[in-house]
Amino acid sequence: MPGIGIFLFALLAAFCQPGNGNTSEDRSKTRVLDLSRGAYISSEECGACHKAIYREYSMGFGGDIEQAGTADRSIDGDSVALPSHVSYAGTGHSLAGADTFPGHAREVEMGGESCSVCHFPMYFEIPDLDRPETGRPRPRPPGREAGGVTCTGCHLTPDGKIRGPYRVEAPHETVADPRIQTSAMCAYCHSLGRRQVGKQTQTFLEWRDDFHRPGLGIQHCQDCHMPRTIRKTAEEYNVPNRAVARHIWTGGHSKQRVSGALSVVMVQPDEGKPDLQIHIINIGAGHSVPTGSTRRGLFVFAEALDDTGKILRSREWLLAPTLEDHSDTRRPPPDDPAIQQASAAGSQHEPGLRAGEERILKWTPDLATGSYTVRTRLVYDLNRFNDRSLSEDQTEAIVTSTRIRVR
Ligand code: HEC
Ligand code: HEC
Ligand code: HEC
Ligand code: HEC
Ligand code: HEC
Repeated sequence: MPGIGIFLFALLAAFCQPGNGNTSEDRSKTRVLDLSRGAYISSEECGACHKAIYREYSMGFGGDIEQAGTADRSIDGDSVALPSHVSYAGTGHSLAGADTFPGHAREVEMGGESCSVCHFPMYFEIPDLDRPETGRPRPRPPGREAGGVTCTGCHLTPDGKIRGPYRVEAPHETVADPRIQTSAMCAYCHSLGRRQVGKQTQTFLEWRDDFHRPGLGIQHCQDCHMPRTIRKTAEEYNVPNRAVARHIWTGGHSKQRVSGALSVVMVQPDEGKPDLQIHIINIGAGHSVPTGSTRRGLFVFAEALDDTGKILRSREWLLAPTLEDHSDTRRPPPDDPAIQQASAAGSQHEPGLRAGEERILKWTPDLATGSYTVRTRLVYDLNRFNDRSLSEDQTEAIVTSTRIRVR
């Protein structure tokens, strides 16, 4: 039974490894990483050993992120082998540092200092789930903002170690911190100020107060945004396979993600009458839809069509986070483009759908006796303030239709 022999040999080999997990044949790859440069260690350097994670982080590999108008980043040095072209774009965390990024956080407001807390972090302590404000990251000093939210930006502890979920032997100092697998890890950057229903930049607080506490689900941010696979974390090392989280963080730039957030049902409650109900249900997000920035918007288009497909009647709604009440945080200056755009657009929108919410929009199109197709389209817009004809940043998430008869 050679199978068992090989199995026993493998078991023996696993037990006979030296403490750092390297066998003689891959010991040549052992390079001790000095963590004294702390936050100034680039993501590429970490990627030399954590190849798959780096590929996900920098290229969105395994996700479906579309970043309209953002260029590929060039990679310094030859330590990381990456394919020359990949069908999708890098994650927001890696692109937060790209010079090509629109409205680059480095240039805005106090030389970008207050923006850097989240866009160019050095390190932070994972906060308490109940008090996310205590986990405020330390921003990079002006002139040294680089890389965006880098590997160390999330993994470096204030005392200069690398935190992770496991107790491992690695060529760098690590510390096992189970909180890295909880939403507390994302809390500070993904929420600002205290909880105000409907306000922008509340993602973590929406998760905690609307989803987690009432018991709508047990998922933390990572469970939805960092799907796990059994594999090695460091490919060229003789380390065990583990459940490794894919570093893809798909959000508003992912059709897959946006399309999985909601369900839509159209109802004609009374036979023969043109009264319609559009039920929109938040089935997929552990927070509001849309969430995050006030720029995000969800358009709901209701349309009544004749048999030739011509749209006879239509109506639209906009669901979006609001910017209005900033009594708890420093209000952006009046000349801030976001403030100007938001006040020009007015508050002609409804709040987003909270976790688990079912919203019923009512519509009574003025239709003569006859048969019609009625249709609802949900369109997710990354920037509802730009020209409406600009469809590059819009995703048609759901289309549903039904036939009605009007008497
Ligand atoms: C140090 C701050 C910081 C931490 C910690 C952080 N994020 Fe982010 N995140 C950002 C910033 C800044 C962006 C926006 C980057 C950009 O688009 O310029 C972002 C973008 C995202 C996006 C993409 C949004 C889009 O526009 O498509 C997702 C999803 C996301 N983060 C999820 C998470 C999750 C889940 C965690 C916790 C595991 C987390 N983030 C932790 C700062 C952070
Ligand atoms: C020279 C190779 C090498 C480099 C460079 C490297 N790592 Fe590692 N790292 C490893 C190995 C090997 C492990 C152990 C993997 C295992 O046991 O699954 C590890 C483990 C980890 C873990 C898991 C720790 C835990 O407690 O679960 C994290 C997180 C991590 N590294 C992050 C980083 C970051 C961030 C950088 C860049 C600052 C980096 N690594 C650079 C080789 C490296
Ligand atoms: C936005 C924050 C963030 C950034 C940026 C980030 N990580 Fe992670 N990383 C996490 C979180 C959260 C986990 C724990 C995931 C889980 O299992 O729930 C993790 C886990 C890991 C692990 C342990 C294996 C696992 O999935 O549990 C390694 C190794 C690792 N990261 C390396 C890296 C490297 C290398 C980079 C840069 C290319 C990087 N990380 C960038 C948040 C981040
Ligand atoms: C049950 C799954 C689930 C959980 C848990 C979850 N999300 Fe999401 N997330 C989604 C879905 C679906 C979307 C797309 C719809 C939307 O934008 O709300 C999304 C979108 C996002 C976006 C994109 C916003 C943008 O502007 O592009 C960010 C950022 C984000 N989530 C962060 C988080 C953070 C941080 C947590 C934890 C506090 C979290 N999510 C918990 C499913 C989840
Ligand atoms: C509390 C943390 C935090 C601070 C402070 C912060 N941001 Fe962000 N920023 C984020 C997150 C998280 C996202 C991801 C999108 C979302 O959640 O809607 C983001 C996204 C962005 C984006 C991309 C928008 C898009 O449509 O994808 C830009 C540009 C940006 N921020 C610029 C800035 C500027 C400029 C400042 C300073 C005035 C700033 N940010 C301050 C957390 C922050």
